[in-house]
Amino acid sequence: MDCHASLAMTKPGFMARIETERYFGVRPTQGAIPLFTYEGHGVSPKETAALAKPSASGLAPVVIPEYLQKTYWWAYLHPNAVRIFERQWLVNLILWGNFARLRDAALQELGAVIRGKVLQVACVYGDFTQQLLRRLGPDGQLDVVDVAPIQIRNLQSKLGHSSQVKILQQDSSELHFEDASHDAVVVFFLLHEQPAEVRRKTIAEALRVTRPGGKLIFVDYHKPLARSPWRYLMVPILSTLEPFAMDMWRGEIADWLPADLPVAELKKQTYFGGLYQKVVIWR
Ligand SMILES: C[S@@+](CC[C@H](N)C(=O)[O-])C[C@H]1O[C@@H](n2cnc3c(N)ncnc32)[C@H](O)[C@@H]1O
Repeated sequence: MDCHASLAMTKPGFMARIETERYFGVRPTQGAIPLFTYEGHGVSPKETAALAKPSASGLAPVVIPEYLQKTYWWAYLHPNAVRIFERQWLVNLILWGNFARLRDAALQELGAVIRGKVLQVACVYGDFTQQLLRRLGPDGQLDVVDVAPIQIRNLQSKLGHSSQVKILQQDSSELHFEDASHDAVVVFFLLHEQPAEVRRKTIAEALRVTRPGGKLIFVDYHKPLARSPWRYLMVPILSTLEPFAMDMWRGEIADWLPADLPVAELKKQTYFGGLYQKVVIWR
């Protein structure tokens, strides 16, 4: 049984409503990392208190993962992060001019008119979700989850209200959806930011909530071809700024799939001399 709890979070002059979807009674929160102080990293003390409150369902509250606080606070949690990074040209520059191409490669997998229930795991700077929404047919439904309240608020302000969209605070490594609850799931540039054990859980959860016959789409970094200059240029950039990203060069998403959930088919396509990949999995 699903239950919707809502969490009202206030900042001076700002009121946002974040829905936290709970998977009732069946999937207890495991391995939650205790909150530590991240004042100034995008969540006010009031919000911290709200997040720390036990939920009505008795499950532990959603907490900001430690890797996000330690490694990516400047990109996703600090109040200035959204102000700085929420620029289409900048996200395009970070992907060396490939944002639109990779976004469209992911969206194309969902079809020109999206029917059914789609889940986007983690918010993205730029217009990824707006473009997804444009393709949503009248009977389409979009859920977007992110673990960071500031990112949820940012997406809410980008999208405005739509009865077809739910924006939920959830951790990708422990989704609060029922098994096989979505027709398609898309995970755009999240895996490279996660430590190995979190990445495996995110993949397993994304697969779990995809219905049999449904599609799971990953777009992320990949090891460039030997002849590509990016093979050398990206090493210092990724090693310095994104400590887990080089894992995407060393391993394959296929290797990180859970053993207990077989997949029907998997297709991989690479882009930009192999620096980026799209992996599509049919459950
Ligand atoms: C999708 S990734 C990066 C995408 C891309 N580089 C961009 O331009 O935004 C960034 C988002 O992932 C979210 N995120 C990181 N770890 C998460 C987790 N365990 N669960 C849910 N969201 C997470 C962050 O809060 C952030 O909003």
